[in-house]
Amino acid sequence: MSEQSSATLHLNAGGSLQGHVRVPGDKSISHRALLFGAIAEGKTRIEGLLPAEDPLSTAACLRSMGVEVSEIRAGEPVLVQGVGLDGFQEPGDVLDCGNSGTTMRLMLGLLAGRSERHFVLTGDSSLRGRPMRRVAEPLSQMGATIHGRKGGNFAPLAVLGQRLHGATIHTPVASAQVKSALLLAALTAEGATTVIEPAQSRDHSERMLRAFGAQLEVSGPERTVVTVTPGASLRGQTVVVPGDISSAAFWLVAGAITPGADLTVENVGLNPSRTGILEVLEQMGARITVLNERDVAGEPVGDLRVTHGPLKAFSIDGDIIPRLVDEIPVLAVAACHAEGISTIRGAEELRVKETDRLAVMARQLGAMGARIEEFEDGMAITGVTPLKGSAVDSETDHRVAMSLAVAALSATGDTSLARPGAAAVSYPNFWDDLARLRC
Ligand code: S3P
Repeated sequence: MSEQSSATLHLNAGGSLQGHVRVPGDKSISHRALLFGAIAEGKTRIEGLLPAEDPLSTAACLRSMGVEVSEIRAGEPVLVQGVGLDGFQEPGDVLDCGNSGTTMRLMLGLLAGRSERHFVLTGDSSLRGRPMRRVAEPLSQMGATIHGRKGGNFAPLAVLGQRLHGATIHTPVASAQVKSALLLAALTAEGATTVIEPAQSRDHSERMLRAFGAQLEVSGPERTVVTVTPGASLRGQTVVVPGDISSAAFWLVAGAITPGADLTVENVGLNPSRTGILEVLEQMGARITVLNERDVAGEPVGDLRVTHGPLKAFSIDGDIIPRLVDEIPVLAVAACHAEGISTIRGAEELRVKETDRLAVMARQLGAMGARIEEFEDGMAITGVTPLKGSAVDSETDHRVAMSLAVAALSATGDTSLARPGAAAVSYPNFWDDLARLRC
């Protein structure tokens, strides 16, 4: 099968994929369950929380501010003892957000309104290079004071807690992290806050804040206008976290492109603000069936069965991009196996993810023989192009690591993947699941 070393992973080509897999908990929902539990009154119990590096960063930051969060272990519920909307203690040291943009951006929103307290947030070298002005600037419209490198755009960031006032804010990008930061700041601001997005981003914050008791209204075309009225305190809840469709995406593409494959991915969150990947795979003619659809704690969930078959090229742009933004690296792999030229446009946000994912995928998949033309806002990929096993590198990006592993499955010849450990940011058991499903 495969041999893992700290530096590189050997991935054998050939074989197929069969069986059932349960992907780990949704990363976005896991962060929110921890954060909202922390600012609620009473206890929050989280079932199915993602036990990966990113949520661990959120939990560690919360503990540094006096929030009791039980140990995070796979398969065990996590308990958060809420401190209330204004109960964070000033931490005695810098808050380390690791690799996690969601941790840093949502915490900016939570901390900006904690008057007379001072917070410093930092992260790893990837996170310290990601733009934070997109959150700091709209928060400053509510009265926040946030300083950082390069005119406040980059961490380390210093937050000088202030009393905030409500505002009507048009966000510059369709980003759930920006939207959520503003909604969290709005909970303790004076007066209502309305956030208007250019296109709808994932709405887990809206759903979960409402379930915790916040006064929140969603309106406007395509649910892009969200208004929070402060005053209500949040109450601790039981949150059941569904499996992450962004992690399921690796198996969906692997199943669609690998001859003889038949995979069932169980317990996948199917929130419509996240299911763009299913629409594209359908456009490609992929054989995917949704089974056992149900509602789990306010989020739609189902099982997804995928079998191998011929694929056609796809074309994406505009409002669908925020609904599949994290799946574009693995869609690039799918495009290599699809007849025709697939085009991805309007995806300039990929340049400011954990890595510049357009450049990294063009470089790494290109090394395997993919025919990719890179644009400032996307790429065009010509298929069907047989991939060849090569020496490739995740460049520290979890989604790149797993996308390249999917590409390696159907390549001719073996692949060696440098820095495979990046997968642990969102899917710690990915390599074990891959070994188990191969046949
Ligand atoms: C996330 C939102 C998205 C996504 C990220 C998680 C969230 O980022 O790429 O992996 O949990 O809100 P943006 O808000 O930057 O689009």
